[in-house]
Amino acid sequence: MSAQQSKVLAIIGQGYVGLPLAMAAVDAGWIVIGVDNFTAKVHQINGGTSPVEDVSDQQLQAAISNGHYTATTDFSEITKASVVTICVPTPLNNDREPDLSLLRSAATGIAPYVSESTLVVSESTSYPGTLRDIIIPIVNELKPVGTNNVYFACAPERVNPGDAIWNQKNTPRLVGGIDQESQIRAIAFYKSICDAVVAVSNPEVAEAAKLLENTFRLVNIALINEFTQICSASGINVHEVINAAGSKPYGFMPFRPGVGVGGHCIPVDPLYLTWWARQNGGEATFVESADRINHEMPRYVAERALSMVEGSIANPRVLILGVAYKPGVGDVRETPVTELRNYLKDRGANVAWHDPMVPIWEGTNPVDLNWDCDVAILATNQPGLDFSQLVANGVQILDCTNSITEQSGVTSL
Ligand SMILES: NC(=O)c1ccc[n+]([C@@H]2O[C@H](COP(=O)([O-])OP(=O)(O)OC[C@H]3O[C@@H](n4cnc5c(N)ncnc54)[C@H](O)[C@@H]3O)[C@@H](O)[C@H]2O)c1
Repeated sequence: MSAQQSKVLAIIGQGYVGLPLAMAAVDAGWIVIGVDNFTAKVHQINGGTSPVEDVSDQQLQAAISNGHYTATTDFSEITKASVVTICVPTPLNNDREPDLSLLRSAATGIAPYVSESTLVVSESTSYPGTLRDIIIPIVNELKPVGTNNVYFACAPERVNPGDAIWNQKNTPRLVGGIDQESQIRAIAFYKSICDAVVAVSNPEVAEAAKLLENTFRLVNIALINEFTQICSASGINVHEVINAAGSKPYGFMPFRPGVGVGGHCIPVDPLYLTWWARQNGGEATFVESADRINHEMPRYVAERALSMVEGSIANPRVLILGVAYKPGVGDVRETPVTELRNYLKDRGANVAWHDPMVPIWEGTNPVDLNWDCDVAILATNQPGLDFSQLVANGVQILDCTNSITEQSGVTSL
């Protein structure tokens, strides 16, 4: 059987997006080759240990042992595949602008191994025009001589790591092909994995929709973070306000305040939008303002927590509970808790942390919950984080997660 008749999928990047996609494709009857350029990770995965929470070791081991999945660093394995999806990171550079170097290197790695009729899909988040102006030219320039028809589409990933309800299968998938044949093939591929496919008229619409989805979250979180500070200054409990507003049956969607935003998506993707706006001579001032407000939250939280400590304590001991950027994952990428810790330390505090899902963080070890502190900050309410003893002992807690209600010593953000 030729590669193009095969139900073999190659996925470039075996992280939070690529590995769950691999398992969803295995479930749908695909043979999956997981390509990753990080050798240690490939060894870990092939050894049956999953690096991401959304894929269990058992699920991974079953897929490996029945021959339906294997990880590799060898891009030439792509020659066996009829479909190649790109799931590599799209971070920011030091100027907080799009860094597409990993995406470019993935496209460069793929190109020599595509063949007649290979479908190449980008799932990585980026600004509109990335597939057309960056990925396609690289693949077309470096593909084997005589390969005439390579098909291209964009299908941005919407996975929400740690989400018990929404996954690769039941989350509708946007698909935008570069031409009609690409669209037909990409829709057929995603229909084999996902319950619902939403076709859009071109890749740029799919790319822009992904930026809109995540920017929507960023600005609403910023709005509630700013609103929280205004309410707090007047002694109003913002959560009661949000619940009250949430009783309106239309036109309102509740968002909750917190230490800030983290992870690979919400703090990053909107800056792809602001950059893209600038390239077109425009400005996304609203989004930039939201980004600034969220970045100011760790300082605000630090000041609120320190204000709960007796004034005579020069170097308060502060215990941070939960350092991952959200509950249910051990992911500390872009976690706003880093900025929180830095502010606290700048203010002379002695800071320790505890997170049942994070064994080591920025080269430091966690402490246990008996660590003697002047104030604790519940930054991320991780599953398995048992703060009941702290509450029972009357420890001062600033709860940034709206998890502890009506307990003495506990203040809500
Ligand atoms: N994590 C999320 O919640 C999420 C959700 C939706 C979309 N996305 C988007 O999906 C993309 C991937 O994100 P992720 O969270 O899975 O990243 P990740 O860091 O978890 O995984 C990416 C993997 O790609 C590998 N890699 C990097 N460059 C490579 C290359 N050139 N060739 C082969 N492998 C390479 C890395 O070693 C890593 O294992 C990003 O564009 C992100 O914005 C992420």
